[in-house]
Amino acid sequence: MARVATAHVCSACGHQSPRWLGQCPGCGAWGTLNEERVERGGGGASRRGGGAARGPGAAGRGAPAGRPTRLGDVTTSRVPRLQTGLAEVDRVLGGGLVPGSLVLLGGSPGIGKSTLLNMVLGRLADAGRRTLYVSGEESASQVRLRAERLAGIPGALDVPILAETDLDTVLSTLEQERPDVCVIDSVQTLHDAELSGAPGSVGQVREVASRLMGVAKRLDIATVLVGHVTKEGALAGPRVLEHLVDCVLQFEGERERTYRTLRAQKNRFGSTNEAGVFEMHGSGLVEVLDPSARFVGEATRAPGSVVLCAMEGSRPLLVEVQALVSPSELVPPRRVCNGIDRNRLALVLAVLGRHAGLSTSTSDVFVNVVGGIRVDEPGADLAVALAVASAARGVVPGLGGPGAPDPQAGATVAPPVACFGEVGLTGELRGVAHGDRRLSEARKFGLDPVVSPERCPTLRDALRTALPRRPQGGGRNGPGRE
Ligand code: TYD
Ligand code: MG
Repeated sequence: MARVATAHVCSACGHQSPRWLGQCPGCGAWGTLNEERVERGGGGASRRGGGAARGPGAAGRGAPAGRPTRLGDVTTSRVPRLQTGLAEVDRVLGGGLVPGSLVLLGGSPGIGKSTLLNMVLGRLADAGRRTLYVSGEESASQVRLRAERLAGIPGALDVPILAETDLDTVLSTLEQERPDVCVIDSVQTLHDAELSGAPGSVGQVREVASRLMGVAKRLDIATVLVGHVTKEGALAGPRVLEHLVDCVLQFEGERERTYRTLRAQKNRFGSTNEAGVFEMHGSGLVEVLDPSARFVGEATRAPGSVVLCAMEGSRPLLVEVQALVSPSELVPPRRVCNGIDRNRLALVLAVLGRHAGLSTSTSDVFVNVVGGIRVDEPGADLAVALAVASAARGVVPGLGGPGAPDPQAGATVAPPVACFGEVGLTGELRGVAHGDRRLSEARKFGLDPVVSPERCPTLRDALRTALPRRPQGGGRNGPGRE
C-alpha cells in the first residue's frame, strides 16, 4: 500500500520529525507532535525557508500570478438557504443551512446530536431535498431504530444511510450521490487510509475535515460534522477544526434533564447570539418555542429561588436561579455552580460579604440555573446574589415588603421575584444590554416590578427591596422557618 509522505510536526514550534515523539526535540513541549502530509520532493524543509532561489519569479516559485478582482465586481450567487423546518435550528443557523457550507456540531455523548440531525435530515428529505447520513459510529440498523422513534418526522425513514468509516469511500459516495445536505456522524470516526494515525487523532481529524470541506465546497453540499467534546467541554480534536468550518454549534444540557440548548459559537452566515431550546421526549426532540413560560411556570417559591431575566441572543428568556447555603466543614468551603461561571460566583460572594454584610466564608454555596440552561452574562450577577442572600437568610424573595405573603401559611402565593443586573466591585448595580426587552418579557408573565439597576442603584438596595425582613422573634441567621 502506497502511503503518502507524512511527518510529525510540532504545533508549538514547527519542528518536524519523521517519527512521533512524546516530547518535541525543538522546543521541549510535550504532546504537540501531530502527523501531517508533506509534499514529495520539496519535503517539509521547504516550509522553513530551506529552498534556494530559482531564478526569475522565484518569489512565487514560478507559479502564474493570480488576478485580483474589485470587490464590487465579484459575482455572488444568492443561493437560498436550506430551511430545515425546525424553527429553532434555522434561527441558530441564521436562517437555515447555507449550501456548500461546513457546520460542526459539538456536544457530549448522549446529549442528542444524532437525534437532532436525524430529525433535520428527515424534514429535509420530506421537503424533497437530497440527503445523506454517514454513520461511522452506529450501524445502519441502529440508526433506523432511532429514526423509527421520531414519530413527528414523516421523512425520517426516507433518509439514505451509509455506515462507513473510510474517508475515500465517503468522498466517492458524495461525488456519486451529490446530496444537498450530508451529515457525518462523527468526524472522529472517519479515517484517511493514507495516514497512519488512529481515527480521531489530531492529524486524522484535520485531514478528514479538510478533504470533506474541499468536496462540500466543490459540489455545494451543506455538510454537518458531528464532533465529540471532551470532559472539559471543549470540542475534541484540534481547535483547527473550529477555524476550518463555517459554523460551530454546541448542543448542551444535562443528560439527566430533558432540556437542551443549541447555541452557535461561530457563524460566518449569521449571529452567534442565537440559541434554541429543545426538550427530549420519547419520540425525539421537541422545540420549546416559549421557554420563559416553561421556566416561570416551574419556578419554586422558596428561600433561595429567584427568576433571572436573561438574554439568549436576541431573545429574552426568564430562567429560575436557585441557591443553597449551608454550614461547611471544609476549608475552603465548597462553591458549586451549574449554568453560571465560577468566577462570577466568586465575585458576587465577595461583594455580598464586603458591601452587603453577608459573609459566606464558612458556608458551602451551591448555585444552579434550572433546566440545564447556561447564562454566561454579567446580567445574571444580581440573580445569583439575591438567590444566595435569600437562601442564607432563609426568606422567600418577595416584593411586598415586610408582610410578604407566606406560601406555608396558606396565603396567596406571590409571583416570584424577577431581576437582572451586573454587580460591580464597589457594590453598585450596573445596567446591562437590552434592559427594556428584559423588562417587557417579565411583564408578559406578570413579574412586575423587576429588581433592576434602574430601581436599585446598589446591591444593598436590591436586597432590601427583594428580601422581606424575617418575622420578629425568629433566629438571627439560622436556617429557614421550615
Ligand atoms: P443520541 O442522539 O444518540 O445522542 P448523541 O448522538 O449526542 O450521542 O441520543 C441520546 C439519548 O437520547 C439516548 O440516550 C436516548 C435518548 N432518546 C430519547 O430520549 N428519545 C428519543 O426519541 C431518542 C431518539 C433518543
Ligand atoms: Mg450520536
